[in-house]
Amino acid sequence: MADLRGLLLMCVVFTFLSFNPGNVEGRKHIHKKQKSRSSNAESPISLSPAYPPATPPNSNDPTPTDPTPTDPGNSTSEPCVFDVTSFGAVGDGSTDDTAAFMAAWKAACAVESGVLLAPSDHVFLITSTILSGPCKPGFVFQVDGVLMPPDGPDNWPKSDSDKQWLVFYRVDGMTFTGRGTIEGNGQKWWELPCKPHRGPHGTSLPGPCNSPALIRFFMSSNLVVSGLRIQNSPQFHMKFDGCEGVLIEKLSISSPALSPNTDGIHIENTKSVGIYNSIIANGDDCISIGPGCSDVDIENVTCGPSHGISIVSFWIAWRC
Ligand SMILES: *[C@@H]1O[C@H](CO)[C@@H](O)[C@H](O)[C@H]1NC(C)=O
Ligand SMILES: *[C@@H]1O[C@H](CO)[C@@H](O)[C@H](O)[C@H]1NC(C)=O
Repeated sequence: MADLRGLLLMCVVFTFLSFNPGNVEGRKHIHKKQKSRSSNAESPISLSPAYPPATPPNSNDPTPTDPTPTDPGNSTSEPCVFDVTSFGAVGDGSTDDTAAFMAAWKAACAVESGVLLAPSDHVFLITSTILSGPCKPGFVFQVDGVLMPPDGPDNWPKSDSDKQWLVFYRVDGMTFTGRGTIEGNGQKWWELPCKPHRGPHGTSLPGPCNSPALIRFFMSSNLVVSGLRIQNSPQFHMKFDGCEGVLIEKLSISSPALSPNTDGIHIENTKSVGIYNSIIANGDDCISIGPGCSDVDIENVTCGPSHGISIVSFWIAWRC
């Protein structure tokens, strides 16, 4: 993983597409041809197959899940898998499994190459949660089943933030992956009267308007997000702010074309970002780049029917 970090920083070099805000907006497909970049052989494109890491936690790996790994301190051993069901998660789609996820996070985060596993054939419901680092190197959050928030504002605990759901905070060197789905249950949020076109003649009505971003990485670094299906977010599907070193690959993000503000990936104040081989179909910007971003490389990302890639404060981003 330490190698990966180095690679990530090296690879995601300054290959911002020859973007000009005028022609990017609304574009349906972004497919960048490899640019002949001086004489540098270390093209980020040729290196990108190095991702994900050569030894990813394989979801098909027959390694048995052991709720009480006996060898937590040994970095040369197999990854220690912390299955949330061993921490009391039920995964029936209605029980609140937040406490189990928090406990599994604490345990997995504390060992080297710890894997927090949300296994397949389960639907885990958790409430708005901040999962904080630092974690030991090689930490993996693996969702093979379904992970989802409560269904709509009426079921959202009043004491929870309604601006964000799953937050990773101060985590360095984490992989978020799996063959599962992050289901946003966004429908009832989209139907809030305040949202565009909910009133007569395409107007908006007054009313509470916050909706949670589904996944947020905040002040974190050296992140890999890959393989997951992320859908039906109440608001932005993924948001990165104050981060450095982000590799996003093989994601499938989807929500209905008319779902309001469901940007696919939003980044701000974030450096060294690579977004590759992903499909984003949603109701707002496919990828939105806010102020304070640099070294953003996007390749083979299919956007549609959403608005394409929008760059807010592009020139500020370019110069920082
Ligand atoms: C770590 O694992 C190696 C080989 O698997 C073993 O020889 C060593 O004793 C272990 N160290 C600890 C502290 O358990
Ligand atoms: C582009 O991404 C898609 C997945 O979204 C993948 O199936 C395809 O192989 C990728 N194409 C290239 C040239 O890497």
